[in-house]
Amino acid sequence: MPTTGHHTLIRGGEIVTDTRQFRADILMRGESIEAIAPQIAAPTGCTTIDARDMLVFPGFIDPHVHIHLPFMGTLAKDTWETASKAALLGGTTTMIEMVCPASGDDPTAALEVWMSNARDRSACDYSFHMGVTRWDDTTEAALTSIVRRGVASFKVFLAYKGALGIGDEILYRTLALASRLGVVVTAHCENETLIAELSRELLAAGRTGPEAHHDSRPPRVEASGVDHLMTFAELTGAETYIVHLSCAEALERALAARARGVRVGIETLIQYLVLDKEDAERPNFEGAKFVMSPPLRDRSNQAVLWNALRRGDIDTVATDHAPFDFATQKRLGEHDFTKIPNGIPSLEERVKVLYGRGVAEGAIDLCTLVRVASTNAAKQFGLHPRKGSIALGADADLVIFDPRARSTISARTHASAVDYSAFEGMSVAGAVRDVWVRGARAVEDGRFVGRVGHGRFLARPHRSASLSMSGGTHG
Ligand code: URP
Ligand code: ZN
Ligand code: ZN
Repeated sequence: MPTTGHHTLIRGGEIVTDTRQFRADILMRGESIEAIAPQIAAPTGCTTIDARDMLVFPGFIDPHVHIHLPFMGTLAKDTWETASKAALLGGTTTMIEMVCPASGDDPTAALEVWMSNARDRSACDYSFHMGVTRWDDTTEAALTSIVRRGVASFKVFLAYKGALGIGDEILYRTLALASRLGVVVTAHCENETLIAELSRELLAAGRTGPEAHHDSRPPRVEASGVDHLMTFAELTGAETYIVHLSCAEALERALAARARGVRVGIETLIQYLVLDKEDAERPNFEGAKFVMSPPLRDRSNQAVLWNALRRGDIDTVATDHAPFDFATQKRLGEHDFTKIPNGIPSLEERVKVLYGRGVAEGAIDLCTLVRVASTNAAKQFGLHPRKGSIALGADADLVIFDPRARSTISARTHASAVDYSAFEGMSVAGAVRDVWVRGARAVEDGRFVGRVGHGRFLARPHRSASLSMSGGTHG
């Protein structure tokens, strides 16, 4: 591990940012990028890395992950140790985790639980979105103080009735507060009443398997959730961000709102770009591996999503990493699809698959890859230009990527603690070779060499003039 001021020189790589590609050397010093130039002379004692024929990306950012996730009667499988290793092996150097208190739980206490799970246990940098699941006389003050600590975004669920889901009063109050505090509200958009009624009808008709999950939450249910959020955003003036948008219908509603001036960022997931509804129809309950919400869609939606990434209509590609074991946890819903823990793990695979299926197959170019998997998330959530860029003074979060290698994805070799991969056997062009987090090597030749505990909490700024910040980057 470099000591303060240690130099590492990355020589001769093809640097890719969100806007351009150029050949140059990069000199890291301590935790930051000190120089970028065609031929940098190596300072004394410098470690030199040959990156000829390689691509050099800014560290990738995943703005939507679940690590500590008590959900649907069980607890997601990863810890910060396993998840941050998986992230780094996949080129992700910063993650933003959703804090998901059970409805009724105290937000400040919940944040402490999520923070203490990550503290000293993460090998990559991290931050949080604060889930809002209750509202009483103390909530506004509690959320204001949480924002002051640098957790400068909220998360609301318009689905999951009776669990994480919130009603319209809380939605309105959260958006109104966010508007005053100058923070973004991220939202899971599905109409929960429609889901409950459709699920009831499907179960009554004997459709109990994982393949019925899609029909309990068809595209119109998601589009309705998007419309709902957009109406509330319009009336409160809040800045919003739609998480895990899956289909053409929902995209159309979000873009219509954006066109009339609603402030909305749009995220899709790597799962929706390469997996589809037929995966959740696999026999022998295998489909349960692919149950998530919103569900995997008809394949025709994939081209719409890739086009929207290319055009800049969709801003980010995240994972919504939610790891539940197939052998035990997914089986909780063996006789009732509504009890299958929702979620697909994809933390380690996001960048590889986005490159292999996106860039290598011509769906997006390299700058778009960087934009949607790194820079836009940094900009949206107050981390730019420290993160998401290759620039003087930025954090030395860098990924050397070998475009000529191939990666084959398997649960047998992945770092996540979950017992299956939704991408099992997929072979994709390209491989993550080396990764640095603030100047410290975390991956070398595809092997994890980082340090659990190196990861740092990133306090993010809000945009309210009247609110001061407290705390530092250590939370
Ligand atoms: O199915 C999903 N997406 N599980 C994780 C929780 C959420 O809704 O983001
Ligand atoms: Zn969600
Ligand atoms: Zn999620």
